[in-house]
Amino acid sequence: MSLHSLELALDFRDNYEAKVASAADYVKNKLREYKPIFGVVLGSGLGELADSIKGATVISYEEIPNFPTTTVPGHEGKLLIGELEGVPVIGLKGRKHYYEVADEPFNTGILQTVFPVHVLAELGVSNYFVTNASGGLNQDYAIGDIMIIFSHINFLPNALLGRHHNFSKVDDTSQVWRFQPMNGAYDQQLTQMLSQAGSSHKGRVHKGIYLAVTGPTYETEGESIAFREGLKADAVGMSTTSEVIVARNRGMRVVGMSCITNVISADGTNAANHEEVKAILESPAVKDRLSSTIRKFFKLYRESMGSSQK
Ligand code: HPA
Repeated sequence: MSLHSLELALDFRDNYEAKVASAADYVKNKLREYKPIFGVVLGSGLGELADSIKGATVISYEEIPNFPTTTVPGHEGKLLIGELEGVPVIGLKGRKHYYEVADEPFNTGILQTVFPVHVLAELGVSNYFVTNASGGLNQDYAIGDIMIIFSHINFLPNALLGRHHNFSKVDDTSQVWRFQPMNGAYDQQLTQMLSQAGSSHKGRVHKGIYLAVTGPTYETEGESIAFREGLKADAVGMSTTSEVIVARNRGMRVVGMSCITNVISADGTNAANHEEVKAILESPAVKDRLSSTIRKFFKLYRESMGSSQK
């Protein structure tokens, strides 16, 4: 690592709030008066949902000052700003995973993974819809099922470790806390709406606990058994929890779902590989189940707007 890259990392860590602010200013200029109320992570397999975002303004991650770009194939880096079933959203097509940046100095790896969430918060976006791909530990799950995330176990470095940031909350503009409570992290009302949205896919939509590990290895038999029998996790993946911690810290409401791309067998065998995971996410039936559930969710949300939602 050169001295120059160390200086860049130090600058990113020490001036994090300013880096977020300049990225948010860039996006704000493009938004003009438009006020998105949801950030939607279009994780693996959900790229095409981008086509459902009407009148989208597209901003490449590369254009935005300081915005982390993605390096994983299948994760394009774009913001899509427009209406999803009548709800103003910012779609995030592509995310940075911790395994890509874990060797960055000074904790800046994890700070990169959550950078987009901070930008959304600076833009006043008050809801965060997170999606991901994961391996099914629960033996009732089948490949291509959806797991609505009811709670999570975070085995990634905690995104609030290190210097306390001077950010304020989106909901009441008070300062963020260091000791963020994480009970009820996944909003009950939004989660209920997502269950309702998925209810036509009988037996293929579940509710469970998501465990985040660093990867990039898939699990050994021992790990799979420990995660299922010991930790009682229903699915395991390599993203999401850091983003949710920051979204909650910034006062956003969170809702999330996971696409089960492989099922880990009872004896702990995880035969997944990245190519197979991608192939499942590209299969028309799976893409349709994911996209139709999300579209239905936004339809229900739209219908509820004007009552208690904001
Ligand atoms: N383990 C971890 N991450 C994953 C898996 C898995 O089996 N499948 C998709 N992402």
